[in-house]
Amino acid sequence: MTSDRFKAMVVSEGPDKTFSRQIRQRSVSDLPPGDVLIRVRYSSLNYKDALSATGNRGVTRNYPHTPGIDAAGAVVESASPAFSEGDRVLVTGWDLGMNTAGGYGQMIRVPAEWVVPIPAGLDEKRAMALGTAGLTAAMSLYHLQGRGISPEGGPVLVTGASGGVGSLAVALLAKAGYEVAAVSGKPEAADFLKKLGAGTVLGRDAVEDNPGRPLLKGQWSGVVDTVGGPMLAAAIKSTRQSGTVTCCGNAASADLPLTVYPFILRGIGLLGIDSQNCPRETRSILWDKLAGPWRIDTLDALAETVALTELDPHIDAILAGRKQGRAVVDLDAA
Ligand SMILES: NC(=O)c1ccc[n+]([C@@H]2O[C@H](COP(=O)([O-])OP(=O)(O)OC[C@H]3O[C@@H](n4cnc5c(N)ncnc54)[C@H](OP(=O)(O)O)[C@@H]3O)[C@@H](O)[C@H]2O)c1
Repeated sequence: MTSDRFKAMVVSEGPDKTFSRQIRQRSVSDLPPGDVLIRVRYSSLNYKDALSATGNRGVTRNYPHTPGIDAAGAVVESASPAFSEGDRVLVTGWDLGMNTAGGYGQMIRVPAEWVVPIPAGLDEKRAMALGTAGLTAAMSLYHLQGRGISPEGGPVLVTGASGGVGSLAVALLAKAGYEVAAVSGKPEAADFLKKLGAGTVLGRDAVEDNPGRPLLKGQWSGVVDTVGGPMLAAAIKSTRQSGTVTCCGNAASADLPLTVYPFILRGIGLLGIDSQNCPRETRSILWDKLAGPWRIDTLDALAETVALTELDPHIDAILAGRKQGRAVVDLDAA
C-alpha cells in the first residue's frame, strides 16, 4: 500500500443486474468527506455485511460499494481535536459499510462522532471479534439489567444462539452470572455453546409452539432474541411474569405472530435493540464494560480470522443461517 492507494473489496452491479465482488486498489481521494481518516487493521462479518455484499438495496442503495459495518485501526489524520494520529479506534454501525465506504477497505474516512477510542483491555482484533454483534449483545444485557432482570430471577433464553450476536450474548450472560438456555438449529453446536457458558442447549422445536396458543408455561426471566418470527412469539409467550424480551434481528422472519395477552396478563416488556444508532454515551459505557467487567474469556474460541479473499464462503454461510460464531476480517492478510 502506498500512502494514497489501499486494498478494498468492491461490490459492483453487472449489466445483467447480478452483483460480483472483487478485491481492488482504491484511492484515499475516492473516500467520502469526513473528520477522521483511519487505517483499518481488522473488520468483521455481520448479517448486514452479507446483505450489502450481495446487492441488497435495503442496506446499500448505490453500487459500486465497499461493505463492512465494523472497522478497527489507527487514526491517520483527524480534523477533530478529539483524535490524534496513531490513536487506536473502532467504528461500528451508523452509516459505515451501508452507504459509506466500509471496513472491507484498508482506509475509511468518517465523522468524528462515529469514532470510539479502543479502551485499554481490548486491541483491534478483539474489538472486531466483538464488533456490531458484541455491541448488540452488550446492549441487550444492559437493557435486561436496566429492567431489573437479575441472575436470581431465573434463566435467560438466547435464540439464534450459535450465530454472531447469539454466541456473544450466551458468553456475556454467562459471564454476568445468568443461567443461559441457548436455542439453536445446529445440533452440532451444542458443545460450542456449552463452552461459551450455556447451561442448557435446546433445539428450535423445543421452543417454537403451535401458534394458536396465546400463552405458554412461563420459563424465562429474560430473552435475547436474534431471529424474530414464530421463535420470538414463542419466547414472549413463555416468558415469566414481568420478564423482559429484547429483540434485535429477523434472521428467521420480520413477522411477529402474537396476541396482546403476554403483555396485558404477564406484564412482559418487549424492548427493541438498535446498535446502529446506539447513542455515543451508551457506546462508551458498553465498550468499557466489554473491555473490563464483561470481558469474554472465550472470545478466541468463537471467532476465526479470515482474509478479504476468503470471505465468500462465510458470506454464503451467514445468509443461509449456517455460520457459527464470528469471522474477523484481517485487512492485511494476503
Ligand atoms: N438491531 C441491531 O442492532 C442488530 C445488530 C446486529 C445484528 N442484527 C440482526 O440480528 C440477526 C443476527 O445477526 P448475526 O450477525 O448474529 O447473524 P448470524 O450470525 O447469521 O446469526 C443468526 C442465527 O439465527 C439462527 N437462524 C437463522 N435462520 C433461522 C431461522 N429460519 N429460524 C430460526 N433461527 C434461525 C441461526 O442460529 P442457530 O442455528 O443457532 O439457531 C443463525 O446462526 C440478523 O437478523 C441481524 O440483521 C441486528
